[in-house]
Amino acid sequence: MILDLQSKGRKTLEKQLEKQLLLAKSQIAEQQRQIGLLEKIVRQELKTHRSFCLLPPPELRMHVGRVSDAANFWGQGMGSAKRVTDVFGQDPGGLVLDWGCGSGRTLNWLYGQGTWLRNYRGCDVDGEAISWLQAQGVKSVTTCGDMPPLPYTASKFVGLFCFSVLTHIHPLNHRAWYEEIHRVLKPGGKAYVTVTSDAAIVGRKTITADDEAKYRESGWFYGERPGHYKDAVAVTRTFSLEATRGLFEVVRYSERGYHLMDDMILRKL
Ligand SMILES: C[S@@+](CC[C@H](N)C(=O)[O-])C[C@H]1O[C@@H](n2cnc3c(N)ncnc32)[C@H](O)[C@@H]1O
Repeated sequence: MILDLQSKGRKTLEKQLEKQLLLAKSQIAEQQRQIGLLEKIVRQELKTHRSFCLLPPPELRMHVGRVSDAANFWGQGMGSAKRVTDVFGQDPGGLVLDWGCGSGRTLNWLYGQGTWLRNYRGCDVDGEAISWLQAQGVKSVTTCGDMPPLPYTASKFVGLFCFSVLTHIHPLNHRAWYEEIHRVLKPGGKAYVTVTSDAAIVGRKTITADDEAKYRESGWFYGERPGHYKDAVAVTRTFSLEATRGLFEVVRYSERGYHLMDDMILRKL
């Protein structure tokens, strides 16, 4: 009798679980359908209004982010391009370099605006990303080295921007890179730079009290992480101001100005 009841109870439970599973599966299928539809809409929107639609394969998307979904790739790029046009305008009035352009996240949204198709240049140390972009017909990008110099003549650009590039370069090389940015900019040229700072260190579970103390004392933190440019770098505001001293006027320094990163607008002295 008890066994019979137990087996009936188990069967009812199994049926309930089966129903819930079916419901969950149909909800997932519906969400996937909606994601597919939204991707189609974004593709169409990009083609119609931006004249360009780049979506690298998922493994290349992982070179520039922690997740590989299309929404993240497009969403991040849209935000960055908006920041670029806020800083440099629709017509930057000369060539602007996207240093560390990756596989074109920002370029996607810039190309169709103002004079950007003519004035955009990009470079990255990631040869795979650059080859992929070139295979898509983007001629204005090239590979560069891990350390200066960049493959451009002095004073070539009126502007330069780099989203999350110094965040992957050892802090002890930052000064050399600021000197290089200074070299490739025309006198009075502007740079927009993002850096990871206190927000990446203070109160973070992955950062020990010892690491935080060292960061405070030296002004920087460097942690190696596996994966493509997944290393962790943080520099204090004082460190960045010191690294740019004598080269640039710091027009603006904003804590958490770009998501969790600080950002700076610099003008070549
Ligand atoms: C987080 S990703 C950001 C990519 C791009 N700026 C964007 O917002 O989509 C960092 C990029 O910096 C590039 N990078 C790292 N060190 C570099 C260096 N020394 N010179 C040029 N690019 C570099 C990486 O290859 C990678 O594409």
